[in-house]
Amino acid sequence: MDGALILQKNPMQAANQSETAPPTRASTGNVVIRTEDIHKYYELGETRVHALRGVSAEIQRGEFVAVMGASGSGKSTFMNILGCLDRPSSGRYLLEGIDVSQHDKRKLALIRNQKIGFVFQGFNLLARTTALENTELPTLYAKIDKAERRKRATDALALVGLTDRAEHFPSQMSGGQQQRVAVARALVNRPSILLADEPTGNLDSHTAVEIMEVFQDLNDRGLSIVMVTHEPDIAQFAKRVLVFRDGKIRKDETVLDPPRAAEVLKTMPTLED
Ligand SMILES: Nc1ncnc2c1ncn2[C@@H]1O[C@H](COP(=O)(O)OP(=O)(O)OP(=O)(O)O)[C@@H](O)[C@H]1O
Ligand SMILES: [Mg+2]
Repeated sequence: MDGALILQKNPMQAANQSETAPPTRASTGNVVIRTEDIHKYYELGETRVHALRGVSAEIQRGEFVAVMGASGSGKSTFMNILGCLDRPSSGRYLLEGIDVSQHDKRKLALIRNQKIGFVFQGFNLLARTTALENTELPTLYAKIDKAERRKRATDALALVGLTDRAEHFPSQMSGGQQQRVAVARALVNRPSILLADEPTGNLDSHTAVEIMEVFQDLNDRGLSIVMVTHEPDIAQFAKRVLVFRDGKIRKDETVLDPPRAAEVLKTMPTLED
């Protein structure tokens, strides 16, 4: 794999890079994420960090977007806002058409639980809890009975190919398997969007591509995905790449004909080879 991204400037998005221009894609019912001139400041004692400096973006249902950019460029800040883990200091964030930018913490938590699955670099699984129970955790807040919760968790584990590891504890699984449990947990409430902040950051390159295979499968089933990665080899599996610099989106490009992770895996040596 040469890792080179085949990119094409997204003509509909080109105007997006000007200072405060609103997103330019025609708004349709298929927009899942729309940010309008988002700024984010962090106050740290006397200092104020201007982490996002006017971010306008639109993501349609069924997209698979990779977010790249140097350390400190604002990727996680952006993802945390998209994931309703944090709010913008100014600007608007519309999630499936609903302006959530001014929602309080309780309302954000509710929306997050219904609409968003989040996967982190560290898998954040509970150690003394099986794969199935870890997957089931987010359903505890949903108003469904125990049998239905168990069924949803079982289905989610099947989606990531881990049916045979349901009773394993995290310490009994590989890093890739643990991350797949984390993906199953993120999917269990049937969100419309999967957000992942460096999901392959702790994985070897073969295992990382296995996770991309899972993401492409889920995307094929219609799930919208936004994923932060530092690695061009991983970003190439997405259909679109946003590049952040100094708190702004500096590039927005479509990946022409992304490779299939399942095919790439056939050509990659495993750790045992
Ligand atoms: N909770 C916080 N309090 C204060 N400053 C913060 C906080 N979180 C992030 N920052 C600052 O905001 C800027 C953007 O940080 P962010 O975490 O979004 O970057 P990033 O692109 O995700 O970087 P990395 O690739 O290292 O994960 C940085 O200057 C960072 O120091
Ligand atoms: Mg980050």
